[in-house]
Amino acid sequence: MRTLDDLELDGARVVVRVDFNVPLDGARGIADDTRIRAALPTLEALRERGAAQLVLLAHLGRPKDREPEFSLAPVAAHLGELLGQDVPLAPEPERDELGDAPVVMVENVRFFPGETDNDPELAARYAALGDAFVNDAFGAAHRAHASNYGVAKLLPSAAGLLLEREVRILTGILADPGRPLVAIVGGAKVTDKIGVLQAFLGRADTILIGGAMCFPFFAAQGHSVGSSLCEAAGIDPAREVLANAKEGQVLLPTDLKLGRAFDAATETQDLDGVDVPDGWMGLDIGPGTAARYADVIIGAGSCFWNGPMGAFELPPFAAGTRAVAEAVAKTSGTTVVGGGDSAAALTQFGLADQVDHLSTGGGASLELIEGKRLPGVEVLSS
Ligand code: 3PG
Repeated sequence: MRTLDDLELDGARVVVRVDFNVPLDGARGIADDTRIRAALPTLEALRERGAAQLVLLAHLGRPKDREPEFSLAPVAAHLGELLGQDVPLAPEPERDELGDAPVVMVENVRFFPGETDNDPELAARYAALGDAFVNDAFGAAHRAHASNYGVAKLLPSAAGLLLEREVRILTGILADPGRPLVAIVGGAKVTDKIGVLQAFLGRADTILIGGAMCFPFFAAQGHSVGSSLCEAAGIDPAREVLANAKEGQVLLPTDLKLGRAFDAATETQDLDGVDVPDGWMGLDIGPGTAARYADVIIGAGSCFWNGPMGAFELPPFAAGTRAVAEAVAKTSGTTVVGGGDSAAALTQFGLADQVDHLSTGGGASLELIEGKRLPGVEVLSS
């Protein structure tokens, strides 16, 4: 993969694709600016290497048209505050709309017809904005769109520092992990994580399973799941994972925290065992499981975590995810956390800076772990 060292940057106008697809709050402020901050080292490096202007391309959400709520205006304003300078927002990808500010941003690329179809004419319009292209949008690297794929073929192109680091660390944990390698896989659905589970079955010493995705496993084992969220389509894949696992490789919860409903004020009950009675749902792993999982994590040589252990956003059901987050923060092994909910959990518990690598990619990090080729990365090597 080409890096910044492969580009002529002195005096160049550089088109930079970033992933600024950040959550906004009700007042259209930035609820979490992790992705914006994660791109700053690349912007800084480009300016240090003499780039004359940085033209940022980014998407926000999945607009169907030019709905104002998907405008990048709040993002440009926030980046301006972080950089200590105004970041103008150009409504169209046109050279004469950009002006001369050192850092400018083009409106949401998904406002332009053809972006998600990798339209060659749109890619050519992006390419006309600069002399070189840098892709730092790791979180969007599993897409082959005009602003991260098409344009990369039309200009001298390379990976930014964030994208390079994400790829190195996420592929490294599979290729050459410290042992024992522990994978913690949680979340709602087995079918979302089946590729990741299969990748780790071939590599991990231990796989710890939590979240609602443990119920298809329990259903496959003949346990009752009560009214727990239990994805029917996940039962056969769960059975297959268990059949392919080595003895003791896959650990499932042995106790649960139950609630009557998905609600912070619901009646709760600790269950020693995993047969969920009628009228109850499993909303967290129990304290025994949390302690057992924490022990395994503390002894890890390397550890990958994706997906919460329960409904951590509801305080009565946060303990399991918190125990896992604290163990991940504490272990001396290398720790890599996939984006999305696990990142949100670490942030909620104030532990986000206690892991070696917190990925900015949700889908992209999972696809990379699954061994898939990411088009946004491949195009920087071809
Ligand atoms: C993400 O948030 O995962 C990336 O920015 C990609 O967004 P998308 O799933 O809308 O393509």
